[in-house]
Amino acid sequence: MTEARFETHEHDVLIIGAGGAGLRAAIEASAANVSVGLVCKSLLGKAHTVMAEGGVAAALGNVEPRDNWKVHFRDTMKGGRFLNQWRMAQLHAMEAPDRVKELEGWGALFDRTPDGKILQRNFGGHKYPRLAHVGDRTGLEMIRTLQQHGIHLGMSVYMECTVSRLLVEGGRVVGAFGYWRETGRFVVFKAKSVVLATGGIGRIFKINSNSWECTGDGQALAYLAGAELMDMEFMQFHPTGMVWPPSVRGTLITEGVRGEGGTLRNKDQKRFMFDYILELYAKETAKTEEEADRWLAGDRSAGRTPDLLPRDVVARAIHAEVKAGRGSPHGGVFLDIFTRRSAADIKRKLPAMYHQFKELGDVDITREPMEVGPTGHYTMGGVRVDPDTQETCVKGLFAAGECAAGLHGSNRLGGNSLSDLLVFGRIAGEHAARAAKGAPAPAVDDGAIEAASREALAPFAREEGQNPFALHEDLKDQMQKYVGIIRVKEDLEEGLRHLERLKDLAGKVKVEGPRHYNAAWHQALDLRNMLLVSEAMARAALHRKESRGAHTREDFPEQDKGHWSKVNLVLRKKPGAEGEGEMDLAEVPLPEYPADIKAVLDEG
Ligand code: FUM
Repeated sequence: MTEARFETHEHDVLIIGAGGAGLRAAIEASAANVSVGLVCKSLLGKAHTVMAEGGVAAALGNVEPRDNWKVHFRDTMKGGRFLNQWRMAQLHAMEAPDRVKELEGWGALFDRTPDGKILQRNFGGHKYPRLAHVGDRTGLEMIRTLQQHGIHLGMSVYMECTVSRLLVEGGRVVGAFGYWRETGRFVVFKAKSVVLATGGIGRIFKINSNSWECTGDGQALAYLAGAELMDMEFMQFHPTGMVWPPSVRGTLITEGVRGEGGTLRNKDQKRFMFDYILELYAKETAKTEEEADRWLAGDRSAGRTPDLLPRDVVARAIHAEVKAGRGSPHGGVFLDIFTRRSAADIKRKLPAMYHQFKELGDVDITREPMEVGPTGHYTMGGVRVDPDTQETCVKGLFAAGECAAGLHGSNRLGGNSLSDLLVFGRIAGEHAARAAKGAPAPAVDDGAIEAASREALAPFAREEGQNPFALHEDLKDQMQKYVGIIRVKEDLEEGLRHLERLKDLAGKVKVEGPRHYNAAWHQALDLRNMLLVSEAMARAALHRKESRGAHTREDFPEQDKGHWSKVNLVLRKKPGAEGEGEMDLAEVPLPEYPADIKAVLDEG
């Protein structure tokens, strides 16, 4: 029955998501001689990875020979305020240089040092210039390279296809159910192992830098299939999104602008970031103790620029300046690059930023400042995985890249997402292929497919109901207001009440018209995922009673040195719960550091 009513494809490894992590996983699995299917929600090449503009972090040591994996590891752990899974941070720091060189071997054209090495630039929280880059289009070059390399390896690519359910039999993933966005027809993928690489969840916030695909699909699919979510309270607000004009509010302005010398100022032209330097950060970013002391004493020529403190610190500082009435006309602050760089330099090093502002805002950044403000950018939380294999607690189900959790702890350093997806995309692909080789032929259950198709078609069957676009706007408003950059108990509780209301309304959403090209229908189906990850975030944020990294509680402003520094928050569907079910939240102790890792941390 199944074969007749639904288009069916069968692969050893199915990869859902075709950004950097998905493509890198697909390359690795294909190289292991298994059959690979790669599902893209959008068109191949149009992945959100291209929005990571400023560079890929890897301790190549080209610009600063003192850099090495240990320094990168320490920076990543410090940036994440030690809530990271140390093993992931270790693998990431150790393997990132090889992944970047491999990419170069596959044709990526990085900017060069005068002596012909890959050039590296400064980014917040990285002790040394570490970001290999291609102007301010690094993500784009990476996707181009991975795609060119990957398509010659013989994988099958399914474009404009959205997966709405994973198929699980006896605790093992056996495939996925989805629909073609163009025709609205259903498709069943049978697979021995599945890699989730669907990226982030930014579309749950009103102001965000994410593209339309970032609706938490992988996180929700994994959760509904029985996997765990971890660190969901940690949402990174990138300090610099566009604030004007309103139609492009939130669009990313790369940290590379500050990496190239850009400075933040308030409406009084004051470089306000100096007021937000905490002693700890002064010591961390200055190259010597003496430099840090001079910096703290007011010597502005000493040490690294405070504009490049970690993102959580800069985003909170901008938020505070605006709240105190010292913001720019449209509710941000000013970022100028022209005071430090010539017009020719700006156009050469930051070409995308130059065009973005000229075309979208009629601002010439070689002569005028940009107006910038925080934008929902990246989730540190996601699917809980085994650090060495990227497998979840559901057999045969893997996750990599932004939709997986663990590497970044409570706050990600810029540039670590591109290296994350290369390192862990490769590992997920390798282990998914290995798992597929030892797995039985996938047997999917007709009942599960029928249930998935009923669920997908339900919005057409209702007599009357809510408009899915209006519900999405409502959700973004509530998340921005109650679960945003600064949080407090009463707000989080109010946010959760709104989420309950919205869940109820989403269950009654109605769509009309045919199934082909039906954007309202697609939005209705995406709502389930967005509501699920929003609830996970709000619940975890309410539970964590401290401020750490990207999670700021006004009612618990300190970073705790005790209990909260030792646990990750893990969410899973209550055992036996039907449908989306109720969420179980558990505090899970962080893994102990082995002696050699402890020694590396102590060195720093
Ligand atoms: O600012 C940026 O270019 C973004 C990079 C990142 O999020 O890693």
